[in-house]
Amino acid sequence: MTTNPVPFHLLPDNASVGSQGQLIIAGCDTLELADEFGTPLFVYDEDHLRHRCREAVAVFGTHATYASKAFLCRAMARLVHEEGMAIDVATGGELSVALAAGVPAADIHLHGNNKSTAELRHAIEVGVGRIMVDSFDEMDRIEQLVAEGLPAPKINLRVTPGVKAETHEFIATGQDDSKFGFTVSTGVAARAVERGQASNAMELVGIHAHIGSQVFEVASFGQALRKLAEFANPLGLPELVIGGGLGVAYVEGEEAPSISQWAAKLKATAADYGITAELGIEPGRSIAAAAAITLYTVGTIKKLDGIRTYVAVDGGMSDNPRPVLYGSGYESFLARDVLGRRTASARVVGKHCESGDILVREAAIASDLVVGDVLAMPVTGAYGHSMGSNYNKVLRPPVVFCRDGDARLVVRRETYDDLLVTDLG
Ligand code: LLP
Repeated sequence: MTTNPVPFHLLPDNASVGSQGQLIIAGCDTLELADEFGTPLFVYDEDHLRHRCREAVAVFGTHATYASKAFLCRAMARLVHEEGMAIDVATGGELSVALAAGVPAADIHLHGNNKSTAELRHAIEVGVGRIMVDSFDEMDRIEQLVAEGLPAPKINLRVTPGVKAETHEFIATGQDDSKFGFTVSTGVAARAVERGQASNAMELVGIHAHIGSQVFEVASFGQALRKLAEFANPLGLPELVIGGGLGVAYVEGEEAPSISQWAAKLKATAADYGITAELGIEPGRSIAAAAAITLYTVGTIKKLDGIRTYVAVDGGMSDNPRPVLYGSGYESFLARDVLGRRTASARVVGKHCESGDILVREAAIASDLVVGDVLAMPVTGAYGHSMGSNYNKVLRPPVVFCRDGDARLVVRRETYDDLLVTDLG
């Protein structure tokens, strides 16, 4: 196992080392942030987020859409919109947050494999820019709503191109055996196109596909584009969206293409396959993941002789369920000693009542780590806060955005009163 310091490239763009060796994010001392806001705490480098949005917009313009499931709060929705991205929402909940942030409905795209009539009604009433239609049942519901007097929405059809992306089974979506979209290989997608074009209740303007998430191989996207070109080029529709899915490095030894590299490759490959439709992307993870770290406080250290050491922190599977769900790996290090070697090993666990509540299964840690230390975990900006829960009635952590030495609290910590807001007693 490694004894190296945390690889610096996993940290946010504007991470630096302070005069005492401590972690600084965008000019903010993380030890001071932990004191001021408490832990666990999500700390985002705001300019890192903005820079990633700009990379996507530079190549795709208004066809760059942020997948808000990765991380959403009003400050984030405003930020991505200020940077020129549209927003993909997968539920009525995400839609309502994006609208509450002031994002114009026309710049919001509604996704989802099982949109309810209420979600569709709300989306059409406010005038979302696109609805990514995923099933014939959804077409029935849209036709019903339009029959009731709502305007016909612009739609894309979500298709499964029959490409197996190299990633975890739970986040692979391009293969034929999928709950998402209309299958291309069986002719179902072609039937959906016919129905969409024939219907007065929707205006079909494009085809959409998303092959999966945390995909490192740009070649997988190339395969998808080839299949999509075969299917969509003859249709002559103006839009083709290739989804998100670009992987990011989480641990030592991993390298991922940048958004700019990925985007340039997608554009070039699309041209090779004769795609003339406007190409769109929907990155989520590659915008948000590496922009944030989570700060935890170490509360308990148990050295089990001949077995292992357990380091327990004050969060866990409720602020980052990815290790439990997907076996995802993370790094951790002392916020007070960014460049320190990590010569000891331990399992970093949370405070939940489950043995599975693991954050880092085999962690390299500093040998002088003690109770009370602040432990930093990088690359937690996507699918951490957004997939968080209240399990064990643990309070959801706050989120700060750091920029030029200022820390702005954009989501406050939950309180015990919040836990009772929906509880009618
Ligand atoms: N577009 C669509 C239609 C999607 O379903 C997704 C992600 C994205 C875009 C954004 O993909 P990204 O660029 O973030 O890979 N909870 C899992 C990831 C689930 C992704 C679901 N869909 C995880 O923590 O790995």
